[in-house]
Amino acid sequence: MKNFTFYCPTQVEFGRDGVDRVGALTAAFGGRKVLVHYGGGSAVRSGLLDRVCRSLEQSGIAYVTLGGVKPNPRLSLIREGIALGRQEGVDFLLAVGGGSVIDSAKAIAYGLAMEGDVWDLYSKKAEAKACLPLGSVLTIAAAGSETSNSSVITNDGTGEKRGYNNDICRCRFAVMDPTLTYTLPAYQTASGCTDIMMHMLERYFHPGGTLSMAADGMTEALLRSMLVCSRKVLEQPEDYDTRAEIMWTGSLAHNDLLQCGNGMRGDWACHQLEHEMGGFYDVAHGAGLAAVWPAWARYVVDTDPARFASFARKVMGVTETEDKAAALAGIAAFEDHLRSLGMPVTVTELLGRRLEEQEILDLAHGCSFQGTRTIGTLRVLDEADIAEVYRRAL
Ligand code: NZQ
Ligand code: ZN
Repeated sequence: MKNFTFYCPTQVEFGRDGVDRVGALTAAFGGRKVLVHYGGGSAVRSGLLDRVCRSLEQSGIAYVTLGGVKPNPRLSLIREGIALGRQEGVDFLLAVGGGSVIDSAKAIAYGLAMEGDVWDLYSKKAEAKACLPLGSVLTIAAAGSETSNSSVITNDGTGEKRGYNNDICRCRFAVMDPTLTYTLPAYQTASGCTDIMMHMLERYFHPGGTLSMAADGMTEALLRSMLVCSRKVLEQPEDYDTRAEIMWTGSLAHNDLLQCGNGMRGDWACHQLEHEMGGFYDVAHGAGLAAVWPAWARYVVDTDPARFASFARKVMGVTETEDKAAALAGIAAFEDHLRSLGMPVTVTELLGRRLEEQEILDLAHGCSFQGTRTIGTLRVLDEADIAEVYRRAL
């Protein structure tokens, strides 16, 4: 087992009615003037935003609100949030929503604690030295941003979608009430489940095979549970226990626990492939991952057929004894599962049209940062490989 540092300081308030404790939690973590950040309207329609504001008022905490976060959160709204936060003397960010809202809040929190342009962090020109404290009320199980150290935002001026990781942005608390996810449309639920599974797969497919039995065993068990729950939730969207399993797994999948001892290096190529499409074509993150994973898996399988065979047998229940055949059967079985959730399993299905060759080259050029970086660790992919994976994903 490799050495590791595991740092996940977020206080999780899991279960029904945690929302009513938001005021007390914010006060406990030092918030006096809060920027309440939310999305395109679901939190307003469900009455959640009112509940959050009432709880803050009951704890005597002042607040301002800023809604309008779109999926693939935009830099322009983040800049608006930073200006509002400065003007109002905000000292705490409260994100009410999913990964997009939490990531937008993290970016505002960085921006309020620095002098330069917040995009410099995402374009890797600067490192954050400070970040305002944040809390979150999670409304969709997916990105895992409620306990992760990362945020992903889109520069609406250039179409670049970029992530930035730093432990100082981890939420102080996360209110996780599974009933808040009952109102999700089926496509968002499935897309979220896909993202959760992908966070585990990205970490599982790292170089070196089994480096930690604990990491592998937890990952395989949680993936098997997600195979069951992701189907069941679409049939019974208001089944509390199923929603709860998915929500908690969403955090476990992305708080780094599952890579402890594994060298802390996942593959992450599929995330990079998706981020490029998300910035260009504004697709749902989980759906974008589903569209590239099968092509990626078949492209890299020969690098480590034994690892793919292990996934096939322990997660997908494949009984084939020869590794390569088992590996391919496992990939096909997972692809079938994604399809059964209503997810696209090709880029053509994702976008509803076939990409032109020039678009593939443009995506590969952007994804490789104009040919200056490679992606992936299981198999390292350069710009030409990236273009080929997109091509095979058509
Ligand atoms: O804006 P509203 O009206 O709230 O609608 C949202 C949005 O349209 C809707 N929704 C959320 N909760 C709802 C609801 N609708 C009804 N009822 C509810 N309870 O769902 C839609 C998607 O929301 P979004 O926040 O975009 O979803 P998700 O959590 O999947 O976040 C996706 C973003 O997170 C990034 C992705 O790249 C993408 O930008 N990621 C962030 C990560 C991180 N910070 O650690 C890691 C991930 O790998 C990912 O990259
Ligand atoms: Zn993801």
